[in-house]
Amino acid sequence: MSVYDFAVGQTNPETFPVEAFKQAAIRAIENEHEMFNQYPGALGHLRLRELMAERESQREGVPVDPHKIAITNGSMQSVTLVGQALMDGHDDIVITEEFTYIGTISAYKGIGMEMIGIPLDEDGMRMDALEDTLARLAKQGRKPKFIYSLTTYQNPTGTNMPLQRKQELIRIAAAYDLPLVEDNCYGDVHFEGDKVPSAFALDESPNQIYIGSLSKILAPGVRLGYLLASEPMLTRIVSKRFDAGSNYFASAVVAEFYRNGIWEHCEVTNPVLKHKRDLLIGALANTLDDICVWSTPVGGLFLWLRMPDDVDMGKLVATAGERNVFFMPGAVFHVQNEQVPYIRLAFGHVPDHLIEAGIPILAQCIKESRTSNEARKFSSLF
Ligand SMILES: Cc1ncc(COP(=O)(O)O)c(C=O)c1O
Repeated sequence: MSVYDFAVGQTNPETFPVEAFKQAAIRAIENEHEMFNQYPGALGHLRLRELMAERESQREGVPVDPHKIAITNGSMQSVTLVGQALMDGHDDIVITEEFTYIGTISAYKGIGMEMIGIPLDEDGMRMDALEDTLARLAKQGRKPKFIYSLTTYQNPTGTNMPLQRKQELIRIAAAYDLPLVEDNCYGDVHFEGDKVPSAFALDESPNQIYIGSLSKILAPGVRLGYLLASEPMLTRIVSKRFDAGSNYFASAVVAEFYRNGIWEHCEVTNPVLKHKRDLLIGALANTLDDICVWSTPVGGLFLWLRMPDDVDMGKLVATAGERNVFFMPGAVFHVQNEQVPYIRLAFGHVPDHLIEAGIPILAQCIKESRTSNEARKFSSLF
């Protein structure tokens, strides 16, 4: 029986470059095996740092110094290290979007931070709400440690912050003297439209901290990501790592894989993902248009679906599960775990035919989990 897994945010197994990666591994072993006898250190594999500097520089149109990059074990390690470095045991508050990546919630709550979520609209974190929150905290004599924002192809909502709002975010962070952490994990999983510059390309302040990953353009199993920051911030953050550095072998293979350029593989993977997104949106339009509203992500791996308030989430999860349809309920992304009438649908790794067959089943389950047949009374996502 088919499994319709819209839950896990993984890349597309159909476009993993098996042969090219095999050849890259052979070259890495032949050329770099002597280095495998050493510990990589806090910053990690130089050639991979140079390639990631090139990646950022080419996307952002500004020079990027590889010596400002530290390779980490996925972007998740960067997320955690930033929290550990910036907290000091007093008012360890982090400001995030109201809905954010579940791993970030676990990491920051796990190290003892208090998370304050800012509501979103179709353009991401709302700046009026951010200003109100910071002003309220300041009145109470409380200063957060930093702002963590998923400005680009937000997980879970799929929103993308436009330039003007990002400039506003940078201005507000500076006014309150707060480091701004931009997690751009999905940065090059781009489908259409202009790419909005990252905060580090708009502002040279040493309070800009940027996080990148290889999980979403290549594979999460390589467990490689990176941190980009100026001194003294970079040293402050990497001094919290006690792991002797990130996997040098994986770094060497990935650096070999990308030695002739970073974009060639993205040019293969992104159109396939965009096609999946379109199939998903087409299937939703055919089945749920009268009762739901959803995001149209211009990049990333997720779609955010708003349902009527009378959907019983427990019943929906159970009925869908019985029919092998899986998704993530909105509450798990809410910083206070609030019950909300949203679900996240991940489409990156689901084969096309299972998207087409799975969404009508999900739609039927949503309808069966309601207490009425009323048409929706809302027309916006938030
Ligand atoms: C926003 C965000 N940050 C970080 C991560 C962690 O990714 P990784 O550690 O594989 O780079 C994810 C994974 O889904 C994510 O969505």
